[in-house]
Amino acid sequence: MNIEPFKLERYFEQYEFTAPYLLCSSDCESFSVRQIFDLEPESAARFEELWLGYTETQGSPELRAEITGLYRNIGAEQILVHAGAEEAIFNFVNAVLSPNDHVIVHFPCYQSLASVAQAAGCQVTLWPTREADGWKLDLDFLRDNLQPNTRAVIVNTPHNPTGYLMSRADQQALVEIARAHNLILFFDEVYRGMELDPADRLPAVCDVYENGVSLGVMSKTYGLAGLRIGWIATQNAEIYRALAAFKDYTTICNSAPSEFLATLALRHREQIVARNLDIIRHNLSILNPFFTRHADKFRWTPPAAGSIAFPRLTLNTPIEDFCAGLVEQQGVLLLPAKYYDFDGNHFRIGFGRKNMPQAVERLEAYLHNELPTLPL
Ligand SMILES: Cc1ncc(COP(=O)(O)O)c(C=O)c1O
Repeated sequence: MNIEPFKLERYFEQYEFTAPYLLCSSDCESFSVRQIFDLEPESAARFEELWLGYTETQGSPELRAEITGLYRNIGAEQILVHAGAEEAIFNFVNAVLSPNDHVIVHFPCYQSLASVAQAAGCQVTLWPTREADGWKLDLDFLRDNLQPNTRAVIVNTPHNPTGYLMSRADQQALVEIARAHNLILFFDEVYRGMELDPADRLPAVCDVYENGVSLGVMSKTYGLAGLRIGWIATQNAEIYRALAAFKDYTTICNSAPSEFLATLALRHREQIVARNLDIIRHNLSILNPFFTRHADKFRWTPPAAGSIAFPRLTLNTPIEDFCAGLVEQQGVLLLPAKYYDFDGNHFRIGFGRKNMPQAVERLEAYLHNELPTLPL
């Protein structure tokens, strides 16, 4: 397979474990193992007794039973656990799609959502979104770009990197289009549960569409990326079987300690999500006024969900130079839009981490000291 480098990962490799302030992380503040054990008094003792043989390929029954709690119409036999969301994306494309299938992919996007399909020989149409439209997906674009060989539509909502959240009406309309054209809807829902207004939460696509595939993970909403536990939920038995058979060639089964900790965390998901949303709300109460104070330098579209957004620097400075100076002088990392193959002076900012206020203070110091104020 000839696949292009994952640009964002290559960029992070340079800074992730050296820059003191990661102001563009996509996940929420994590937890220690001790903090997870503290959720249930007897869990540490049970963990010590955990058997370290191979685990069940589909994921442990206890874990899958917990995951079903996130859905309305999904049973444990319709959940397939993977090593993070990343393995699930890779396997979905390679097990379910064929070379020359046409796939329409929400753009900008987490790179694997498009690159894996391109590398697998699919014909990929990027479904563009614009800041001027609040990053909304335009269903007319989809209708106009359907082809006889269109097989799947890949959408990420809540969205990385813009914080856009699809409306219920649009989701319903999209399901109707997909049903009429017999398309698979692959929804990357790794930020589901992080809606700032819980009333905005969309039904999972696997609950509302028989050919819907929902992608979930412990990394984002729950802040447990190091567990490397993700999953697919679908009512489509053929897709499920294809994915299960393919997984025999990638990871076979999941790490037993990770499954144990993920199950434990999901049993207490309300507490974990509430803690993460508290951090996000507090951070946004700092970020929103920051962008108001600096409205002459940035264009800010507040997010509807998730822990990241995609503002734009409106100064006459390329965003790559701005970010390079910021990390060098203040140790604060932002992510320029070019790592999403997206033109323009946008950058990703993350607000799921506890040290965000300190990072923003340093960003502000950088603005005051280092940049000529030359609004366009
Ligand atoms: C939208 C989206 N999908 C999938 C993934 C992959 O998740 P994981 O790293 O937990 O496998 C990410 C990670 O950043 C993401 O942002």
